Amino acid sequence: MEMHRYEKLWLMIGVGTLVAFFLLLVYSQYAMGFMPADGHATIDSTKVDQTPPFNQPGVFKKSDKEYEVVLVALAFGFTPNVIEVPVGSTVHFKVTSKDVVHGFEIPMTRVNAMVLPGHVTETSYTFKKPGEYLILCNEYCGVGHHMMMGKLRVTE
Ligand code: CUA
Repeated sequence: MEMHRYEKLWLMIGVGTLVAFFLLLVYSQYAMGFMPADGHATIDSTKVDQTPPFNQPGVFKKSDKEYEVVLVALAFGFTPNVIEVPVGSTVHFKVTSKDVVHGFEIPMTRVNAMVLPGHVTETSYTFKKPGEYLILCNEYCGVGHHMMMGKLRVTE
């Protein structure tokens, strides 16, 4: 029995749509797996110690009153644990996690971000007031969560 022309056409459109949909699905899964929605850099969370700049966490002076702070979050602490910058400094934080999801919050400032394994969290802040600031994890990450903190000293 011969198919009607229209039936054939509809079948082709149907199959074509299905294939296109499937390809879109595969593509979106692929894109989601390799590119985070915010477009930030990714990192292999099992190779943090070997991946620059996280192979050397610390405080780096970029120019006058401008610092880059590279931080590694892990259950249950931050490396480095104590950061010191002069008052008026703009600090560019780069943070990643070696294990689970952590938080990165500095109370009294705008700094409040999530730190996901496999991702690099970037945030900046200008410290205009001297003093000792706390760095807190505000995402529950396990039994030591409440002990996970660091210090940031802003010196005169
Ligand atoms: Cu890390 Cu809570």
